[in-house]
Amino acid sequence: MANDFEIIETRDATVVSDEERKFELSLRPTHLGEYIGQKKIKDTLRVYMKAALKRREALDHILLAGPPGTGKTTLAAIAANEMGAEFKSTAAPIIEKAGDLAAQLTNLEEGDVLFIDEIHRLNPAIEEVLYPAMEDYQLDIMIGQGTAARSIKLELPKFTLVGATTRPGLITAPLRGRFGIVYNLDFYSVDDLQTIVVRSAGILDVEIDENGARQIAKRSRGTPRIANRLLRRVRDFAEVDYDGKITEEVAKDALNRMEVDVFGLDEVDRKLMLTIIEKFDGGPVGLGTLSASIHEEKDSIEEIIEPYLIQIGFLNRTPRGRMATRLAYEHFGLDNLLNRQNNMPSLFE
Ligand SMILES: Nc1ncnc2c1ncn2[C@@H]1O[C@H](COP(=O)(O)OP(=O)(O)OP(=O)(O)O)[C@@H](O)[C@H]1O
Ligand SMILES: [Mg+2]
Repeated sequence: MANDFEIIETRDATVVSDEERKFELSLRPTHLGEYIGQKKIKDTLRVYMKAALKRREALDHILLAGPPGTGKTTLAAIAANEMGAEFKSTAAPIIEKAGDLAAQLTNLEEGDVLFIDEIHRLNPAIEEVLYPAMEDYQLDIMIGQGTAARSIKLELPKFTLVGATTRPGLITAPLRGRFGIVYNLDFYSVDDLQTIVVRSAGILDVEIDENGARQIAKRSRGTPRIANRLLRRVRDFAEVDYDGKITEEVAKDALNRMEVDVFGLDEVDRKLMLTIIEKFDGGPVGLGTLSASIHEEKDSIEEIIEPYLIQIGFLNRTPRGRMATRLAYEHFGLDNLLNRQNNMPSLFE
């Protein structure tokens, strides 16, 4: 059953505690019909699944790319569930040797889904093992060493590999080419996030009205995981300071007190934007410099913080570095800085 699988989350920034993990699992859809938004993906996936079932074949290999918390793991588990297949999950950083992957592959049964999270982090030697496995359901491995070394070939059951990545740009061309289906999960619309909040509130038995749900949706950075997290926190405010029901007023008050602003930006987002604007005159500033200034890892800036800031038009990535946009200046009430910059007389005219 897709409900019982073990989800391996390796990026600590995304899943904080066991409790949080349980909470996420309880809200995770298990059927395609419960998966909200991403209409084009659902429409086509439905067709591919039906066709594969009809032909009694394994579903084609799928690559899922998208920002953290946008439903990659959820969709992979749903695909397995809908195919009536077993969901087996691992992550690239924990596959250290080719043998680790071989063990996973030989443990599969016909039709199973093998989910590899953060697949852009596979090391090249392991990726080589994956190629024939994906293409011909064959495992080619070397055993022994020196003159005794020889390669053995094993037949694998016809399985489906689902790879997930937050950094599609880092996937090698030969690996990407072996996925028959590639989906880019983008940020969600406010409407879809609102539907997710209402659905989650139903499961959690929290009373919420349309406008309350909309407030939470608007401030969720386009991300279902964040929408669910905010709902959980807003519920605390509703229970402690109000009568338990989440209305627009309650949601606004709670979110303001949590310092999640009207664009859904949190403290780290603000720190990044204000550093570019105030310390670096709006940019361009290089990723390394920015990382040192705000004490955040380059990876988490690129994977977690920036994509949404780019999406809402606050930040541009240029060849010379990151730049704040006019919209960002305006949002932080710093347009006066922008004008000063533009009106600066040139010394060499
Ligand atoms: N389309 C959706 N409909 C309803 N809920 C969703 C949807 N997508 C995601 N969620 C909710 O958001 C949570 C996080 O999603 P998920 O773990 O699948 O994200 P992810 O893309 O795998 O993130 P990461 O990159 O961090 O691994 C899920 O537990 C689920 O409750
Ligand atoms: Mg995931």
